[in-house]
Amino acid sequence: MTDIHLDVAGEARLHRALRRCWHPVARSSEVADKPVPVSLLDERLVVVRLGNEIACFPDLCVHRGTALSLGWVDAGDQPAPDGSGTVGEPCLVCAYHGWSYDRRGVVRRIPAVHGRSIPNRARVTRYATAEAAGLVWVLLEPGPGGWEDPSAAYPLPQAGSWWEQPGYRTIPIETYDWACSAARRVENFVDFSHFPWVHPDVLGDRSKPLSPEHEIRDDGVTISFDISLEEPQASVKGDVAPGEKVQREPTTYTLHMPLSVTLDQQLRPSPDRPDGNHFVLFLACAPLSSKRCRSFTWNARTYRLEPENDAELAAFQSLILDQDRPIAESQRPEELPVDLSQELHIAGPDKASIAYRRRLAELAATASPE
Ligand code: FES
Ligand SMILES: [Fe+2]
Repeated sequence: MTDIHLDVAGEARLHRALRRCWHPVARSSEVADKPVPVSLLDERLVVVRLGNEIACFPDLCVHRGTALSLGWVDAGDQPAPDGSGTVGEPCLVCAYHGWSYDRRGVVRRIPAVHGRSIPNRARVTRYATAEAAGLVWVLLEPGPGGWEDPSAAYPLPQAGSWWEQPGYRTIPIETYDWACSAARRVENFVDFSHFPWVHPDVLGDRSKPLSPEHEIRDDGVTISFDISLEEPQASVKGDVAPGEKVQREPTTYTLHMPLSVTLDQQLRPSPDRPDGNHFVLFLACAPLSSKRCRSFTWNARTYRLEPENDAELAAFQSLILDQDRPIAESQRPEELPVDLSQELHIAGPDKASIAYRRRLAELAATASPE
């Protein structure tokens, strides 16, 4: 792999290339019978369930630029209030003058001139949508096949065995926004050599700062590695007594290009799980802009399955996030420099970051010229 150097224009290319990637915009459960306003890569969008499909449009009515997310869903199976016929399928109705958009983004009804033909330009782009791992994902640019045959730069990240499997309890960690790029946030998530410094006595120990040996696996779509971690506060996971030292081995990180990570940690066996228990964090980060990101997280576990244990585990995650946030938000530039010469990398602990930045640089090189 050759080094690819990105200048300012290159960083802008990365921003554009991310439009060819799937990004999460909401949890599936949040998109019910009302349109939901979301942001992605500096664009205001609306996501809405129309019948069995989730649609995503610019949050902008073509008539007078009103936010479509202020509107509502009409099932399209009843006559309109003026007695005119039904559209015949669910539509998103604009709150200002009642124009009805179908799931393709085409205006099907203009109440003020009902009966006249609807102009061809009365439509909005319908972006590609998908549901995976309990999240709604959006693709803003379809690639060479156009919207008829959209193709993303990477496949959707696959949730592993933890998702919706018997024996696992999966809970959402509260969604949060940080004032840094999504790539900085993801790099922070896979950077374990900060544990003794940012999370002392929680995830790391300052008397043992040496990074564990590890090899990076990089197949072009995922970057992964296994490490052995000694966690000072392991007892929060409920499988060891307070104060007891334990090596978490293996702790497997899988970074799904470009902005999602699965952390799968093997815990000690229990009588009902002689092969060992699992603690899983799945992070899917959305680039709201080049300097702001939103993190969606699931936490899955095979132990302490009773719901009353959720709060303690969620509080443990918030404690860690509150420690990480000021660090990530302080980093400059807010974007992750994918020009490897811009920051000083240390062989060993920074191996995953280096692999990640190389892949991001390759992604940037695929961006269409402006
Ligand atoms: S602005 Fe949407 S219908 Fe007029
Ligand atoms: Fe951290």
